[in-house]
Amino acid sequence: MNGAAANGANLPLVLLSDRLAPLTSWEESIAEQVPCQIVVASLRTHEEIARNAATAQVVLLGAVEPFDEHAFAELPELRLVARRGVGTDNVDVAAAERHGVLVTNVPDASVEEVSDQALTLVLGLLRGVFAADRAMAQGRLDVARAAVDRGLPLGECTVGVVGCGRIGHRFVEKVRGVVGRVVVADPYVREVGGADVVPLSELMANSTAVSVHVPLSEGTRGLLDATLIGQLLPGAVVVNTSRAEVVDEAALAAAVRSGAVGGVGLDVVTDEDAWREIAVAGGNVVLTGHTGARGARSQETLRRTCAQQVVDFLSGRTPNHVVRALSTARAEG
Ligand SMILES: NC(=O)c1ccc[n+]([C@@H]2O[C@H](COP(=O)([O-])OP(=O)(O)OC[C@H]3O[C@@H](n4cnc5c(N)ncnc54)[C@H](O)[C@@H]3O)[C@@H](O)[C@H]2O)c1
Repeated sequence: MNGAAANGANLPLVLLSDRLAPLTSWEESIAEQVPCQIVVASLRTHEEIARNAATAQVVLLGAVEPFDEHAFAELPELRLVARRGVGTDNVDVAAAERHGVLVTNVPDASVEEVSDQALTLVLGLLRGVFAADRAMAQGRLDVARAAVDRGLPLGECTVGVVGCGRIGHRFVEKVRGVVGRVVVADPYVREVGGADVVPLSELMANSTAVSVHVPLSEGTRGLLDATLIGQLLPGAVVVNTSRAEVVDEAALAAAVRSGAVGGVGLDVVTDEDAWREIAVAGGNVVLTGHTGARGARSQETLRRTCAQQVVDFLSGRTPNHVVRALSTARAEG
């Protein structure tokens, strides 16, 4: 669509990224409460952002549309970026602030769903059921049996949780009653009920399964690097429901191919085809296509909260869950 043409009526233009389409009654309710136009637009590249959001005052974004300094510089009308989700790694919040744009997110809508997804992946991988299912689809009972025969009882497994914020902590609450031991690595967390807080290298060296729950930032990019992946117990499994870039994917892929890592459950990947190839070649790879936050309840909450944030903003109220750049948050104390 063409943003300039769509804004012909001189109403504030609110764009819904096509990654969040279709428009539902929640987005439509924005225009019922405040005068504005809601339009679906593709914002996947800088060119599309510059063209389609040229006259937009508000954009509702998914997890990957690149709203960086370059994008903000092209959008003088923009006032609000509403991320319909938790992670804001695709939005340069400091650049947004420099350009007078407010950024919001929805931090608590999918804590249950993402922690459920991580739990399901960890338990399914430890028990070998995903591999058994794939083998049975090919009529290979022998392969299915071999996959399950490798697994220890869950009560003898140690699960390592990297990042113990909202999602990681909820995951700990769920998994600690099922497995033998839970260890947590998080530089900002000193104590977690039912888990031992340990350095990351100790977690990697002692866990039967590792589940990753850190946000993507310059501090966490490549956090699980080749050295740490090399310290994993033989046959350990790795689950990532946070962001692909926090793990050295090439090192993890090599470890799965060699059998050093027993399996991976990845909700987030940078190169889906590469992981599919490893799976086709017999690697124990479970992909869930960034569905971790989805579910009947969370989708509704995400849409409702995000729509309310836009209504509040356009009505002159401060929306909830404003995201601050680290430097701003520090300066504010
Ligand atoms: N798969 C999905 O659909 C989906 C949905 C929601 C969130 N997410 C991802 O999950 C991430 C976590 O969400 P959350 O709500 O729990 O965030 P959060 O901010 O509540 O918790 C993140 C935790 O990571 C810790 N952390 C930061 N740097 C670390 C490091 N170097 N080592 C270990 N721990 C570190 C922080 O101290 C914090 O406790 C989000 O940022 C997002 O990227 C994915």
